[in-house]
Amino acid sequence: MSLTSIILCMTIALIVGTTLAKPSDPQPVRTYNVDIDAPAEVRWSQVLADYQYMVPNILQDVRTLIPVDYIPLVEKIADDIETYISQPFAGELKAIAKAWDIDLGEIVLLNIIYDVTAFCTSIVAQDGNGTIWHVRNLDYYYGDLLRNLTIMVNFQRQGKTVYTATTYAGYVGIVSGQRPNAFTVTVNQRGHHVHVGYWWQNILIAIVDKNSHFVSFLVRQVLENSTTYNDAVDQLSTQIIHAPVYYIVGGINPGEGVVITRNRFAWVDKLYLNLPYRVWYVLETNYDNWSNPPPYDNQRRAVAKASMNKLGSDGVNKDSLYQVVSTKPVMNMNTTYTIVFSASQPEVYTSWIRWP
Ligand SMILES: *[C@@H]1O[C@H](CO)[C@@H](O)[C@H](O)[C@H]1NC(C)=O
Ligand SMILES: *[C@@H]1O[C@H](CO)[C@@H](O)[C@H](O)[C@H]1NC(C)=O
Ligand SMILES: *[C@@H]1O[C@H](CO)[C@@H](O)[C@H](O)[C@H]1NC(C)=O
Ligand SMILES: *[C@@H]1O[C@H](CO)[C@@H](O)[C@H](O)[C@H]1NC(C)=O
Ligand SMILES: *[C@@H]1O[C@H](CO)[C@@H](O)[C@H](O)[C@H]1NC(C)=O
Repeated sequence: MSLTSIILCMTIALIVGTTLAKPSDPQPVRTYNVDIDAPAEVRWSQVLADYQYMVPNILQDVRTLIPVDYIPLVEKIADDIETYISQPFAGELKAIAKAWDIDLGEIVLLNIIYDVTAFCTSIVAQDGNGTIWHVRNLDYYYGDLLRNLTIMVNFQRQGKTVYTATTYAGYVGIVSGQRPNAFTVTVNQRGHHVHVGYWWQNILIAIVDKNSHFVSFLVRQVLENSTTYNDAVDQLSTQIIHAPVYYIVGGINPGEGVVITRNRFAWVDKLYLNLPYRVWYVLETNYDNWSNPPPYDNQRRAVAKASMNKLGSDGVNKDSLYQVVSTKPVMNMNTTYTIVFSASQPEVYTSWIRWP
C-alpha cells in the first residue's frame, strides 16, 4: 500500500513551508457543506462526484469483507430498502448507488460494515475552568481506504450549520459528530466480534427486524433532532439499535460527560463525569469499564488513563488532548483519524487523518 497521499495536505504544506509533508504527518480533512433541506437525491452530489474515483477500491473492500452466505439477505434488504431503512437514509443510499453506478446492496453493505467495526479511543474531560472537551481516535483494520474517504461535513439549513461530523464519502451514518453549543458524540465498538460469521448474521437479522436503528444512523438522527445534551443522552440510551456499542457524549456545562454502555435494547451502564468524586474525565476504548481488556489489547486503555492522570484537569486543552491520543499504542497502526472538539466552543472542532 502506498502512503503517498497528497490529496489533503494544504495546511501541512503551509505549516512546514517548503518541506513536503511526510505521509506520517497528520493531515487536515477536506470539508463539505451538505444542505439537509435539499432532496436526498442531490444533497451528497459534490462529495459523490469528488470521490467517484474511489469506487473501485470501495467495491474491492466490500467484496473482501462480506461472507457470500449473507448476500441473499443483503439483496432482500436492498430490494425493499424503504421497508428496512428509514428516511432520510434509504433515499440517500439510493442516491449514492445511482451516482456511483453500483448495486444498492453494496452501498448498504458498506454502511453496515462501517456502522460497528471501529476500534477506537474516546475521552470526555472537564478542564480547570469547567469546560467540557472531547477527543477521539478512530482505529480500523483496513484503514487505508477509510483514510482516503474521510471528510468533514457541515450539515446545514439555510446556510447555518446544524451539526458537523467527521465521516466518509458514501457513508450516511455518523460515528463522530458535534451539535454546536449542545453536545458532541462518538461511537466505539463494543467487544471483539468483528469478522466473525455470527456478527454479520446478527446485524442482518436486526435490520430485517425493522424496529431497530443502525448504530450510526441513530447518532445522526440525534445530532439533527436533539437540541440538548440531556435529550441526546436519553435517546442514545433507550432507542433499540442493531448491535452493542458505546456512545460517548460530551455536553456544554460542567459535569456533562458520559460513556453509555449499550446492548441492543437498552443501556447497561452509564459512567458520568463526577467532579465531587474527582472523576474529571471518562475514557472508553472497546471494553466495559468494569472488565479487563484482553491481553492482546490491554495497553490502549492503561496508557490513555496514565496520560490523562498525568495531565490533570488543569492541563486539558486542544493540544494536550491531541498528545494523549497520539501516544503509542493509543495511536497505533490502525488509527485513521483523530478529532478534538468541545461543544461549547464549536470552532475548536478539528480532525486530522493519521497515517501509520
Ligand atoms: C489511498 O490513496 C492513496 C493515494 O491516493 C493511494 O495510493 C492508495 O492506493 C489508496 N488506497 C486505498 C485502499 O484506497
Ligand atoms: C481558563 O480560561 C482562561 C481564560 O480563557 C485560560 O487562559 C486558561 O488557560 C483556562 N484554564 C484552564 C485550566 O483551562
Ligand atoms: C491493527 O490491525 C491488524 C489487522 O489488520 C491487527 O492484526 C492488529 O492487531 C491491529 N493493531 C493494533 C495496534 O490494534
Ligand atoms: C429529524 O426529524 C424529522 C421530523 O420528525 C424527520 O423528518 C427527520 O428524518 C429526522 N432526521 C433524521 C436524520 O432522522
Ligand atoms: C471505570 O471508570 C471510573 C471512572 O472513570 C474509574 O475510576 C475506574 O477506574 C474505571 N474502572 C476501570 C476498571 O477502569
